[in-house]
Amino acid sequence: MDADGFIQIEELTKVYSSGPVEVVALRDATVSIGRGRFVGVTGTSGSGKSTLMNLLGGLDTPSSGRIRVDGRWISELSKTDLALFRRHTIGMIFQSFNLIPSYSALENVAFPLLFADVPRKERVRRAAELLCAVGLEGRSDHRPSELSGGEQQRVAVARALVNRPTILLADEPTGNLDSRTSRQIVQMLYDLRAEQGLTIVMISHEEALLREFADELVRLQDGTVLSQETLRGRP
Ligand SMILES: Nc1ncnc2c1ncn2[C@@H]1O[C@H](COP(=O)(O)OP(=O)(O)OP(=O)(O)O)[C@@H](O)[C@H]1O
Ligand SMILES: [Mg+2]
Repeated sequence: MDADGFIQIEELTKVYSSGPVEVVALRDATVSIGRGRFVGVTGTSGSGKSTLMNLLGGLDTPSSGRIRVDGRWISELSKTDLALFRRHTIGMIFQSFNLIPSYSALENVAFPLLFADVPRKERVRRAAELLCAVGLEGRSDHRPSELSGGEQQRVAVARALVNRPTILLADEPTGNLDSRTSRQIVQMLYDLRAEQGLTIVMISHEEALLREFADELVRLQDGTVLSQETLRGRP
């Protein structure tokens, strides 16, 4: 598998039909993403960014077109293999942190491992290691309400990485944060990419932030890919 075609999105179309109205959320989108790249996705509200991300993460199925990840066509996976793909290949974070309020930071991070048959001791060890990687080693016992927004997003990042995915998908991860905290979070994603060997796809309407950290910028408009611009070459 050549490094440049790690993620291959081919002529992806998604049509939503709610009642009599059809919305073409994505139209013939073709994007190629190399292993280890940090790709920013931008575009106005309603341009299809989240639709693209949900298809890539296997949360939804396309109306037509296909996606290949690391040599496997996602649409051809069985239900079981798709669940495993979502658990072990993809990590996702969102604008809202979606943490469990009654759980500590450590328990939130360890939570996905409950479904992956990992013994308790190992769950705690791995969650602690990830909390350390996101700079929250001193906050393990804090509940979400006892953490700042930036810290909550760090917990969400740690949780997304606890199953050691190869791809991190981030949909407006800084949407609820001030500009200084936003920059810190994206800087952290940038650093984690190298440390954890990740490929990152991050949606944001803050183009300046993407330009500062991403290797490539994909621009969507009305569900079509306007451009895929290379900002930085391979190191
Ligand atoms: N489940 C759905 N059913 C019907 N239409 C939908 C659904 N999800 C999204 N859409 C429509 O598809 C289009 C693309 O939506 P999408 O959420 O991908 O946009 P977006 O670029 O992520 O926007 P934003 O920046 O506001 O998050 C929009 O016109 C939206 O109304
Ligand atoms: Mg969106």
